[in-house]
Amino acid sequence: MKSTADLISMKNNDRIVMVTAYDYPSAKLAEQAETDIILVGDSLGMVVLGYESPVQVTLDDMIHHAKAARRGAGNTFIVVDMPFGSHHTDVNEGIKNGIRLYQNSDANMVKMEGADSFDVIKGLVKAGVPVCGHLGLTPQHFGITGFKMQAGDTEQAEKLIEDAKALEAAGASMMVLEAIPMDLAKKVTESVSIPTIGIGAGVHTDGQVLVYHDLLQYGSDRLPKFVKPYADLNSVAREGLTNYRNEVKSRLFPSEETTYRKRVYE
Ligand code: KIV
Repeated sequence: MKSTADLISMKNNDRIVMVTAYDYPSAKLAEQAETDIILVGDSLGMVVLGYESPVQVTLDDMIHHAKAARRGAGNTFIVVDMPFGSHHTDVNEGIKNGIRLYQNSDANMVKMEGADSFDVIKGLVKAGVPVCGHLGLTPQHFGITGFKMQAGDTEQAEKLIEDAKALEAAGASMMVLEAIPMDLAKKVTESVSIPTIGIGAGVHTDGQVLVYHDLLQYGSDRLPKFVKPYADLNSVAREGLTNYRNEVKSRLFPSEETTYRKRVYE
């Protein structure tokens, strides 16, 4: 399994491939595909649990799903999201929550959204917990920002560059840049010495991340502009389920081959 140091040294040398996964089978497939990092993201709330946003996802949900992902991917670096509200109210509580998540989830790193938890990051790193930041569109703030591109003007872009530098100074080992203009993502990537992982941030980041259910079209029907679908599991699954239904109705299933018969001993 790669270490945090291995991932940092991939900056400028190799592209980092990250994909989300939330359970045993998705993590197993991500590991078989040799992705560098699995992110147990709080997008879990939307693509697996059916919520409108990540806001309802709890720390216990993240621990539960990260443990399942770990059982599927024993040799892949796993990053797990700190959910909504777990690091904003109080620095000590944020540090405690981060430690609890890291210790109980079997993940290698915790990720936290926003540019307002630098003291929590410092405390976690001091305690030995590797941290990934997340700037630009931060879905936990969707009630305020909506799901749209961020940092579109000069002032916001400059603030984002400063926030990225502050994240690195606080001890983050990596950062996700979501839904920001490509040129800004390039500038941020050049301004920090830790890897940047883009989603909707163009080609100049050190790595890319996509949501499993989006890139494989599994359950999700509306894809954001920045997603390229690489498979259509919706069609495959729907067809399989319809065939199963039709064969049961018409008594074609179970067939001779899928039926036990009483064994007769002489
Ligand atoms: O929760 C998540 O899946 C994420 C990615 C969109 C980066 O944070």
